[in-house]
Amino acid sequence: MRILVTGGAGYIGSHVVADLLELEHPVLVLDDLQRGNPQNAVVFQEHPAYRLIQAAIDDDAALRLVQDWQPEICFHFAALKAAGESMQRPDLYSSHNVRASYRLIEALLRIGCNRIIFSSTAAVYGEPRYVPIDEEHPLQPVNYYGFSKLAIEQNLEWMTRLTNLRYVALRYFNAAGYDLQGRIKGLEREPQNLFPILMEAACGQRATVQVLGTDYDTPDGSGVRDYIHVNDLADAHVRAMQYLSDGGASTVVNLGSESGLSVFEAITAVEVASGAKIDWQTAPRRAGDPARVIASSNKARQLLDWTPSYSQADRIAASMWPLYQQ
Ligand SMILES: NC(=O)c1ccc[n+]([C@@H]2O[C@H](COP(=O)([O-])OP(=O)(O)OC[C@H]3O[C@@H](n4cnc5c(N)ncnc54)[C@H](O)[C@@H]3O)[C@@H](O)[C@H]2O)c1
Repeated sequence: MRILVTGGAGYIGSHVVADLLELEHPVLVLDDLQRGNPQNAVVFQEHPAYRLIQAAIDDDAALRLVQDWQPEICFHFAALKAAGESMQRPDLYSSHNVRASYRLIEALLRIGCNRIIFSSTAAVYGEPRYVPIDEEHPLQPVNYYGFSKLAIEQNLEWMTRLTNLRYVALRYFNAAGYDLQGRIKGLEREPQNLFPILMEAACGQRATVQVLGTDYDTPDGSGVRDYIHVNDLADAHVRAMQYLSDGGASTVVNLGSESGLSVFEAITAVEVASGAKIDWQTAPRRAGDPARVIASSNKARQLLDWTPSYSQADRIAASMWPLYQQ
């Protein structure tokens, strides 16, 4: 299958590219490398089935090259993803995420590429009304990033009704870890998640880590989140592609481990993986941060026959530590 991967030089996209190449699919990556790690393109450049176009996803010249290449399916990862930044610079998220994706989808439909796997996010749900969060949970994003993803999902839903498009929107919870086979060498750039922050502390790039709230109604008082190993995410993408190839209807699917991990449990896992002691300080809760965010991945199990295998805290931490020692 000829596969277009937007954002394929990014953290999650590069892991999926590695799996797709291993399955012997020709892969065309469209990435402007603005936020991705160029190493994630270099690592594949000798592979005969890999090609990179360094351009924005709505660049006319790039889209003409995509048309010539004739992809049969598109994995659409390319996006800006920092919730905080999206509240300061909504213009960036409006143009890079919403407008650029709309143009990409139009172009794909024009050239007859009518299958899309879209990287969505748990941020479309907003504050949890209940946990575990299933796909029926109300959609009320509390940041512009979440809104931008919801706007793209809704466009995909409309296009499904009006054209022959079929899509799977995968709503990731917190992606973590690095490739267990060591194929990916590029560190995620400007990560905002807990595990990379703890890794930076473990290797001395940060003096201390702030634990934002230690008085939550959770077993150890710190906030609980759902972390999913990036290899588990990649596996779900390959299964979603198979689902669409088998004629599956458009749908949205959560991808989470279903097991909540507290900040203190993550600290312990990173200390064990690295052998370093992490200095942490208690800080006040961040406004709007819920005590627990946990996914229901029941639908992914039923529809994609997917179960996360690598998303335990110790495995996540152990898979990350080698990259922080480069
Ligand atoms: N990392 C997570 O925990 C997480 C959670 C939920 C959803 N997501 C979504 O998954 C996708 C991938 O995330 P990631 O963590 O790999 O991010 P990343 O920043 O590592 O990768 C995104 C890639 O897309 C490229 N890009 C961004 N906008 C572009 C544009 N307009 N044109 C061309 N290239 C562009 C960047 O250069 C980068 O290489 C994103 O859509 C993100 O919103 C990520």
